[in-house]
This record gives sequence, structure tokens and C-alpha cells, in this order.
Amino acid sequence: MSILLKNGTIVTSTDEYVGDILIEDEKIAAIGKNLLLEADQVIDVSGKYVLPGGVDQHVHYSFDYKGARVQGFDTSNAAIVGGTTTVIEFVNQAPGKGIAETIFEYEENEVKDVAMVDYSFHGIVCEPSDELFKEIPSLVDKGLPTLKLFMAYKGLPFHSDDEAIFKALKAAKDVGVTVMIHAENADVIDILQQEYIAKGLTDPYYHALSRPTLVEVEATQRVIHLANLAGAPVYIVHVTAKEVMEVIRDAYIKGTPVYGETCTHYLMLDKEDLARPNFEGAKYVCSPALREEEDREALWNAVNKGWLNAVSSDHCGFNWEKQKTMGIDDFTNIPNGSPGVENRLGILWTYGVNTGKISRQRLVDLYATTPAKINGIAHRKGHIGVGFDADIVVYDPTPVSIISNETSLQGVDFNIYEGLKQEGKVDKVFLRGQLAVEDGKYVGRLGQGTFIPGKPYGLCYEGFEKKEELESVL
Ligand code: URP
Ligand code: ZN
Ligand code: ZN
Repeated sequence: MSILLKNGTIVTSTDEYVGDILIEDEKIAAIGKNLLLEADQVIDVSGKYVLPGGVDQHVHYSFDYKGARVQGFDTSNAAIVGGTTTVIEFVNQAPGKGIAETIFEYEENEVKDVAMVDYSFHGIVCEPSDELFKEIPSLVDKGLPTLKLFMAYKGLPFHSDDEAIFKALKAAKDVGVTVMIHAENADVIDILQQEYIAKGLTDPYYHALSRPTLVEVEATQRVIHLANLAGAPVYIVHVTAKEVMEVIRDAYIKGTPVYGETCTHYLMLDKEDLARPNFEGAKYVCSPALREEEDREALWNAVNKGWLNAVSSDHCGFNWEKQKTMGIDDFTNIPNGSPGVENRLGILWTYGVNTGKISRQRLVDLYATTPAKINGIAHRKGHIGVGFDADIVVYDPTPVSIISNETSLQGVDFNIYEGLKQEGKVDKVFLRGQLAVEDGKYVGRLGQGTFIPGKPYGLCYEGFEKKEELESVL
């Protein structure tokens, strides 16, 4: 099957030009101006932007918080209607099992037959035994070149101490595995949480007050030191605040291979959303917590300048009524995490590109190209080029809509961006050459997604080409 997309404005992380794209089966076969090629189907996309499919390297389709589980891959059509064609899912190491065993069992039982986007996995270290550290080299051969460890969440099965983190960094760096860190000081949070609860301060707002920016700053600094001691690169997930971003930026400039991402909600929302009445604030409970308006501005600047390398959704499909309400009397029991995989591109377009905060090239880099590089899938994903997977988003810049949970496919009862305007819309999406979204509607099938094995030595292992450029702007 071949498809010719004619006259679109093709956007990559470095370029923008009007041209045609020939898709043959699963791949991009040719790109050029006025291609005189035959195809089974010709689609005119003039006036529209043609972007690589998004790579959302931070999603949760199996996360369990104190017994509340997020919506699974059977809601992953929400990702693709939002312009994301590949997700990378965090999987907790199961008790008594290895990382790869856990992941591939999960894939077999809960992902393979339902995923509507391509997918890959990050293993989460839960049992940092000697066997686990011995397993790390073999992950690479199985296409699993990343691991996540949580400095936060004291008492929960996925919390790691410094010993586990240091050992993981050492084992990982020998084989090109990228260690991703949730950086917050768990002990301090635990004490502050207990203090607020003891005083009867149980509302969602105290979630934010019990995890102030400094707990994130401290943990980020600590893990950078651990990474330096181990001689390993490190990747900081969901950076929320100016001060945290500055720690990462300054360490990078001094020569530490530390990289980081922020998430759509940290660019758009702030602490005051947690103060919404009638327990509505619980919808915005995620960790680390939402910060201040000035942090949002600093984060936009950081993603524009390259101080932070990617924008993820940290999608967690929790319901408000049946799950967030677990914490009605105690904010520490509110499941941490909010949905958002469907809105990442629309938000970055409307509030990033259309306000002049980032260019279209930068958007593509942050939402597709760099996440693909970090996770070792950049040979197939994250770029429009000949030989790449034909994961293509056709974005129509003209329509204006209001974000509403009523039209969402995320499978939950709220949307944290409810009522916000979106400029433009995802018109069509091709997943490896198959049309999966038409006129903004999902037209694909269950199980159309496939596992994309990652290669080791992703972006975080690369040299420091940006160093001089960055020094000059400091
Ligand atoms: O609150 C969040 N972010 N929940 C998901 C788990 C994590 O920390 O990434
Ligand atoms: Zn996290
Ligand atoms: Zn997360």
C-alpha cells in the first residue's frame, strides 16, 4: 500500500519546508517537492503542518497508588488522537521477578492485543537485590535500555534509597542503560505530610505544601552527585520548578551528563489549582507538585533554550469520583498523577508555538525527536525522513476548540485542561503507514501498536556538543 501526502508543510526539529511524502507500507519511502510518483492513494494536505508522530516517553498505563490503578492501554487511542504515536510506559518490577520478566509478562497479558500506539517500556526498580543489578546488562539485548528509580514515595513498593540508586547508576553506565530519576526527598516529605495531617490540614492543597520545591532541589542535587560518583549520565523526569531546572542546567554546563524533562501540566497549571473547592483540587494532585506561575515561565524558557530536553505528559488515568476521592480525608491517600496524554501536542502548539514561546521546530524536538533519541528509538521514531517509520501527524492550524472531557478518549471523568482553548487540531495520524486518525476521530483498531525495542547509549550518553553554546547564553 502506498500513500502520497501532497503539499504539506513538513516540520522537523531543524527544518520546515513544503513538500510531498511518499509512504510505502510502514515506512517513509520518499520526500521531495512535487514528487512525480504514483501511489495507491493521494491526499492533499496543503495548508496543513506535517509533523513526526509524537513520542511520549513518560506515561503510566499500569501505575498503582495504594490500590488505585490507572486506566490501561485500552485507552491508548487517546494518545494517538492527540498526535502521539509512541508511548514509553513505566512498569514496576513485580515481587520476586526480574525487570524483563515483569515487563514481557505485562506486555503479553495487558498490552499486545490492545495497544493503539507503538510502545516501549522503562523498568522501575522495586527490589534492588544483587540479582537485579546482575540483570541490568541483559536488558539491553531485550530492547529495554532505560530504568526508573524513585527517590520519592517513602513506604511505597517503588521507593529506592541512595544505595539502590548508586548501584543502579554504576551497573547501568557499563552497558549504556539510561537511569531516570524521580527526584524528591522522601524522608522530608514524609515528615511534612505527618505534620499537616496531625494538624487536621488534610485538603489537596497540603499535598503541594508538604512537597515544596526544595525537596526536589535537594534530591536533584543529590542524584547529580551520585551520578558523578558513579561516572554515569542521569535523566531527571518531571522537572517542575525554576530552581530545579537551574541545578540541572548548571551541572550540565560544568560537565555532568544530566538531562531532564518537564511535563505539559507544569507548563500550564500551578499550585492554586490544588486549592479548587469541593475536592476538585485532587484532580491536580501529582508529584512533584504543581508550583508557581513564575516557575511556569521559567520552564517555558528552559524548554525553548534547551535547558530541559523534552516535554512529556506523565499521563495517569485516575478517575476523580472513585479513585481521587480515596484521599477525601487525607491528601496523602489521593492517587498521585493526572491524565494528559491526549493534550500534549495541542497545548504545546497553542500555548507554546502560537504565543511565540517556542518555534514549531522546537516543538517537534521536545515532543518527538529528543524523546526518541533519549530512549534509543531514534533510528525509527521522532523524525520525518526517508527510511523512518511512517508515523505522521497532519495538524490543521485553523480550527479553534475548547478542551473538554466529554470528547476525550482518556477513559476518566475529568480533564485537567478542561475549558482551555486549543488552536488547531490533529487532523490525521498515520501509525507505521496505517491511517489511525481521520478528521480528528480515531479510526484504527485495538492491538495496532507494537513493541519498539530501544538501543542502549541513548542521547544522555552523547558528548557535550551543546556545552559551548549553552555557556554563551548563561
Ligand atoms: O504523580 C505522579 N507523577 N504520578 C505518577 C508516578 C510518577 O511519579 O511519575
Ligand atoms: Zn515520578
Ligand atoms: Zn510519572
